[in-house]
Amino acid sequence: MGDSMPDEDTREAQNRTGLLWADPRTPFTWRGWSFGADVLRFGGNESPYPPPQELVDAIAAASDRMNRYPFGMETSLVEALGARLGCSPEQVMIAPGSSALLEAVIKGLGGPGREVIYPDSSYPAYRGAATAVMAQSRPVPLRPDGTCDIEGIAAACTDRTSLVIVCNPNNPTGGMAPTKELRPLIEALPAGALLMIDEAYWEFTEEYAQGGRGALDYLECGRPVLVTRTFSKFYGLAGLRVGYGVASSEIAGELHARLRLGGSNIVGLVAAEAALGLTDVFAERAERIKAERERLAQAFGDLGFEPLPTQANFVFCPHTDDDLPARLMAAGHWVRDGRSVQMPGGMRVTVGNPDENDQLLAAIRAIAC
Ligand SMILES: Cc1ncc(COP(=O)(O)O)c(C=O)c1O
Repeated sequence: MGDSMPDEDTREAQNRTGLLWADPRTPFTWRGWSFGADVLRFGGNESPYPPPQELVDAIAAASDRMNRYPFGMETSLVEALGARLGCSPEQVMIAPGSSALLEAVIKGLGGPGREVIYPDSSYPAYRGAATAVMAQSRPVPLRPDGTCDIEGIAAACTDRTSLVIVCNPNNPTGGMAPTKELRPLIEALPAGALLMIDEAYWEFTEEYAQGGRGALDYLECGRPVLVTRTFSKFYGLAGLRVGYGVASSEIAGELHARLRLGGSNIVGLVAAEAALGLTDVFAERAERIKAERERLAQAFGDLGFEPLPTQANFVFCPHTDDDLPARLMAAGHWVRDGRSVQMPGGMRVTVGNPDENDQLLAAIRAIAC
C-alpha cells in the first residue's frame, strides 16, 4: 500500500499563506493521497467495473484528434442525449463533470445579498461554491431517513433566494425523495429563483427502473428548473469528466451564454456518446450493483450498524466508530470517513463488486467485531 491516509489527515493547515479566503474552513485536498493498486476503493462512489472493450476502442479512435480544441464537437453527444432523454438538443448542456456545471450555476446566481438553499449534509460543492461568491448559504437539514426535506427547503425560500438545490438521491446518505414531491417546491419558488436538481445517481433509483423520467418531468412546467446528471457513476466514466444539464430551451440558452459552458475534452465527449449506445450493458451492471447494495446493507445491519435506506451506488452507516475508516484504510480498504462529508460518526461505503464487498465485510468483522 502507498502513503494513503484517512480524510482528516490530508487537510492542509488553514490560512498558511495569509491569503484572504472567503471560506474560513479548513479545505479538503487530494494532494498527498496515494492509492496503491492494492487499496480497494469504497470511498469515491465510482463504478467498480472497468469500461467495456467497445468503449476503450472508441476512446482510442478519438485520441488522434487531441491536437484540436473540442470546439463544436459537443453536437453529436448533445443530439444523442436529446434523443435518449426525449428533449431537444437545445435543452442539453455538457460540462466537464456535472460538478463543473453545478459550481458554475451556483457562482453565476449566488453572490452577496443572494441566498442559496441546499440540503445539509449533501454534496460539498454546493456550500463551497456558494461561499466562494459570498452568497448567503441556507442549509436545510435532511430528514432522519437521509432524504432531502423538500417541505423544509420550500419553507426556507425568501425573496432573496436566487437558487434552490435538491440532491436526489442525496449524497452522502443515498435517500431519495419521490420526484412527485418536488411539485409543491416548484410552486413555492420565489420569482427569479432557479431550482437545480442534482440527479447524479438517478440511474440507480427505483423510479428509473420503473421507466420514470425523474425531474425531467418538470422541465416544461413554466418555472426555471435545471436537472444535472453525469456519466461518472452509472456509465463509469468518472475519470473522463463528462456531465450534463437539461432545462427548458430558454433556460438552457441563457445558462449557456451567461456561464460560458463548455470545456469537455474530446476523448470524454466521444466516450460519453459511445457509452450512451451501451446503456443496456450499464443497466445490467447497475442491477448487479443494486443487488450488492442490498447485500451490503443487510450485512451492515447484521453487524449491528443501522445503514440508511439508499437508492444510490453507496450505503451510509451512521453510528460507526470514528476510528473505523482509518483502521479500514490501514488494512487496505478506503471508505469515506463521515467527518469529511459533515456526517461525523459514520462512514459512506460505495458498492464494489461481490469479491471486493466480501473483502470489506471480512475486514470490518476483523476490526469492529
Ligand atoms: C451528488 C453529486 N453531484 C455531483 C457529483 C459530481 O459528479 P461529476 O462531476 O463526476 O459529474 C457527485 C460526485 O460524487 C455527486 O455525488
